Amino acid sequence: MVETRSDVLEVIRLGHPVLRMRAEDVPENLFGSAELEELKRKLEVTMAEEGGVGLAAPQVAESLRCFIYWVPESDDSPEISPRLLVNPVIKPIGREVEEGWEGCLSVPGLRGLVPRYRRIKVKARLLDGQSLSFTADGFHARVIQHEYDHLDGIVYLDRMESPASLAFEEEWERYILKDPES
Ligand code: NI
Repeated sequence: MVETRSDVLEVIRLGHPVLRMRAEDVPENLFGSAELEELKRKLEVTMAEEGGVGLAAPQVAESLRCFIYWVPESDDSPEISPRLLVNPVIKPIGREVEEGWEGCLSVPGLRGLVPRYRRIKVKARLLDGQSLSFTADGFHARVIQHEYDHLDGIVYLDRMESPASLAFEEEWERYILKDPES
C-alpha cells in the first residue's frame, strides 16, 4: 500500500459541530466495501501523522460510529496494532475507576486527568463485518472509552472531575511527567 499526502485528513477541533453530534451506525452495506477500507486507511495514516493512539471518524468530520486505535507495547500488555472498531458497544466490568492523563487531537496542546473504568467488555465489528468481542483493561480500556465517547459527541474534558489538572503539553512534560507524584 502506497501512502500519499492526500491520505492525511484534517482533524477537526473543538467548536466544529460534528464533534458534538451522535454519530450514525455504519450501515450494513459498507462492510467489506472499498469506501470503508479507504476510511480506515486514511484514519490510520492521519493518526500516525498526528502521533495519536486513536482517532474516531467524527474527528475527521465523518459522522460514523467507528474509530481506529492502537496500543503500544507496555509492561502489562503486548502491542495491539492499529485496528478499526465499527459500531462498537462497551460495558464496564466491575466498578473500578482509575484516573489517567489524556489528550485529544481535537483539543490540541492540552492534557487532563480523566477517570475511566479500569476494565471493559467490548463488542464490535471489523472492516469485513466479522464480529469481535473482547475485554480490555488499563490503558487499552482507556483508549477505547475515549474514542467511543467521540461517537456520542463527548470529549475527555466533559469526563474530567475537575478542570484543575488541565495543563499545556509543554508544561505537563516539564512539571508533571517529570514528577508524577506531585
Ligand atoms: Ni480524542
